[in-house]
Amino acid sequence: MENETIYILAIESSCDDTSAAVLSGKKVLSNVTATQKIHEEYGGVVPELASRAHQQNIVPVVHQALNKANIDKKQLSAIAFTRGPGLMGSLLVGTSFAKSLALGLGIPLIEVNHMQAHILAHFIEDKNHKTPEFPFLAMTISGGHTQIVLVKNYFDMEILGETLDDAVGEAFDKSAKILGLPYPGGPLIDKNAQKGDPKAYPFPKPKVKGLNFSFSGLKTSILYFIQRETTSNTDFIGEHLENICASIQKTIIEILMEKLEMAVKQTGISQIAIGGGVSANSGIRSALKEAEVARGWTTYIPKFEYCTDNAAMIGIVGYLKYRQRSFTQQDVSAKSRYALGEKY
Ligand code: KG4
Ligand code: ZN
Repeated sequence: MENETIYILAIESSCDDTSAAVLSGKKVLSNVTATQKIHEEYGGVVPELASRAHQQNIVPVVHQALNKANIDKKQLSAIAFTRGPGLMGSLLVGTSFAKSLALGLGIPLIEVNHMQAHILAHFIEDKNHKTPEFPFLAMTISGGHTQIVLVKNYFDMEILGETLDDAVGEAFDKSAKILGLPYPGGPLIDKNAQKGDPKAYPFPKPKVKGLNFSFSGLKTSILYFIQRETTSNTDFIGEHLENICASIQKTIIEILMEKLEMAVKQTGISQIAIGGGVSANSGIRSALKEAEVARGWTTYIPKFEYCTDNAAMIGIVGYLKYRQRSFTQQDVSAKSRYALGEKY
């Protein structure tokens, strides 16, 4: 049994990306993602449209993942899927698909918590990526979440702090929307920020106790600032976009880094792993690299393709759960609110 090769097909459909991956043990053989362009027109994810697009995408995406991996579905050991958290209509598509396929193939089904997967993505085997050692601190920064988590083991995680309002990805996306940039605006703020002066415009940072975060005040102050400046100069955004983006990004990164420093002080743990879409941000990446030198931290940044939503991260959790024979029954249902520390 120990020497058998475990092939996991993983499905991710919690938000607006339909993704399928095939893993052989901890190695990713394929990781295919269909991103839904339709939401750009609306400035945010429209849940009803997301679930319809998942329905259209899921069969071709799974086929592609199997083809790319050169694996026949009869070789699969188990199907892993995202049970939650996420949008109900989106989760339902992946959950129903995974249940039917597992039933049809007569193989185990494994449910995965999306946020846990963002953290455990660090355990995907890759020769260019080192793996964190337990215990470590994980900061999950995405469009739906902002958390600092104490990771004691694969399945023993404790949330030390989280956002009280907007997630950090939302702070990026909503700021971008104020600047007239299309959804999702996070990557565009990042791109423009790299050419701008981060000290151009100071924005106030929130005063939140402990390890919790708040981003809604920042968004409001950016909105007022832009309204004020565009009253006297209607071209203000166009003329200063790079400096505005650099200033917003600097403020957001400082907020994240200050809380991380506090978490390191509080726990005495200086191994830091990040996960979630915002880990792709160049500002957080360089701030962490600087902290390695300046503070002696060891930092772990996921490979770009494992930062944003993807099925490979669901697959690694699937594999780790397969090893423990932690399987899910066919009566499982999607769970849009699904806390990280919940027992399952
Ligand atoms: O993890 P993810 O793909 O989906 C969620 O689970 O939310 O994260 C998406 C978020 C979006 O808010 C997007 O704007 C943000 O990640 N994001 C970025 C960057 N790349 C993606 N934010 C800032 N800079 C980036 N380079
Ligand atoms: Zn995510």
